[in-house]
Amino acid sequence: MARSGSLLVRCLFGAMWPLSLFGQGAMMPPPASTAFWNTSGRFLGSKQCALCHPEQSRHFHDNSMSRALETLDQCEILAGPVRYSCSVSKYSYLIHREGSRVLYSVSDGSETLEAPILYAFGQGKAGQTYFFEREGHYYESRVSYYGRLKGLALTVGAVNLTPQSLQQASGRQLDAATARDCFGCHTTGARHGNELQLEHFEPGVN
Ligand code: HEC
Ligand code: HEC
Repeated sequence: MARSGSLLVRCLFGAMWPLSLFGQGAMMPPPASTAFWNTSGRFLGSKQCALCHPEQSRHFHDNSMSRALETLDQCEILAGPVRYSCSVSKYSYLIHREGSRVLYSVSDGSETLEAPILYAFGQGKAGQTYFFEREGHYYESRVSYYGRLKGLALTVGAVNLTPQSLQQASGRQLDAATARDCFGCHTTGARHGNELQLEHFEPGVN
């Protein structure tokens, strides 16, 4: 009994000394965000990667992840004279093209809110959700396009929420960190440390 007890003490001690040797915290894994996103340096663009990784970069363009986000001019679902509509309780939603813009609008029967769609997240297999901007904030559309329905229905995250205003019925207002995370996973190079830089990014995961 006494021998196994001292073995236990030695095992505990043995397991602990590397920590004290390298200083507290040195053995801790880096935070997830540094593992996901480089926090320093600029992304030079996937063309640079292709110089040394030609095989991988050829395949990547066939991969659905390379279309995880589409700008309006790339988006097949919104190409042409589109008109998608649906109603959820007293709110009616409409997505329709007007010239070079595609407008997203929601109406409660007396008032209407309308904004141009800026980005399309996803390709619609599981859903395509739209981003629009109002008063300096990004919003995620409350309805999304679903390939299986060939039309609109509630966005997955919106199913259990009851909007208290027309503004809430239009979509979810995203704080800067949430918007940054959406772009961080669905684009290449849109995130520079904790900043969003939407001037130079590649849509989709390249
Ligand atoms: C100057 C040449 C060069 C460039 C440019 C380059 N790489 Fe690499 N990369 C390499 C080499 C060499 C390796 C190591 C390959 C090995 O170990 O088989 C590597 C390894 C990798 C790996 C790890 C592969 C594995 O199987 O573990 C990834 C991921 C990677 N590169 C991504 C990129 C990305 C993304 C870019 C562009 C931002 C890039 N590389 C640009 C040369 C390059
Ligand atoms: C941690 C990474 C990550 C974050 C953050 C993230 N996503 Fe995603 N998202 C994914 C992955 C991975 C998939 C699955 C892609 C697939 O199946 O091809 C996905 C799928 C989706 C889809 C369905 C895609 C389809 O093709 O049907 C939509 C829409 C979507 N995300 C929107 C968003 C929005 C909006 C945000 C921010 C509120 C967000 N995502 C944040 C990684 C992320």
